[in-house]
Amino acid sequence: MYRIEPITTDHPGEEELEAHLQRIGQERDFPDLTGDGYFALGVFDGEKLVGNISIKVQPVEVPTGIPIHILELPQKTFREAAGGEILEGFVQSFAVEEGHRRRGLGRRLQEAALNECRRRNLYQMRSWSSVDKPANFALKLSLGFAIHPGYDYVARLDKWVPGVFFVMKL
Ligand SMILES: CC(C)(COP(=O)(O)OP(=O)(O)OC[C@H]1O[C@@H](n2cnc3c(N)ncnc32)[C@H](O)[C@@H]1OP(=O)(O)O)[C@@H](O)C(=O)NCCC(=O)NCCS
Repeated sequence: MYRIEPITTDHPGEEELEAHLQRIGQERDFPDLTGDGYFALGVFDGEKLVGNISIKVQPVEVPTGIPIHILELPQKTFREAAGGEILEGFVQSFAVEEGHRRRGLGRRLQEAALNECRRRNLYQMRSWSSVDKPANFALKLSLGFAIHPGYDYVARLDKWVPGVFFVMKL
């Protein structure tokens, strides 16, 4: 019987969390939960963590620091143009371990994260995924996410990567 529970700095414990992240290759993407504005949910099979979704709560902004030339405009940020701050939940990591897929757990994690974003009165939930993730694409479409094809700049690769932004207005 699977349970969805918050992942905190001491649940399920550092060792179990690291082991899970290594099994799914997401050590790099999972946030430091002691940092401001992050939350994470896990799927537990007994005491074993077998899936996670982690979210950063952030203002909706045009990303800065991207190495391209940008046309100078009178308003420099989305916040200035929108007349105030709009907050979103942006997905940092999301995966279910291989032996536990196609049992509805990815869907349950997404739905629990959407509910938590609603509880926090966020405007939208958003994520980005490279084009090589067919299962994730099928899941997002079945949940009713809007899709916005585009490139994202991945600093660690120093490359623009083709993919899709998925957005759900809450
Ligand atoms: C994406 C991922 C989290 C889905 O987890 P999951 O627990 O298997 O997903 P679910 O069982 O909840 O699937 C829900 C729906 O998504 C779709 N789906 C999921 N996996 C699919 C696949 N391999 N092929 C086609 N559709 C798929 C189906 O519509 C499915 O509903 P159904 O089983 O009733 O047909 C999992 O495949 C994964 O961890 N992949 C690797 C990491 C990844 O791509 N992360 C996301 C981007 S970083």
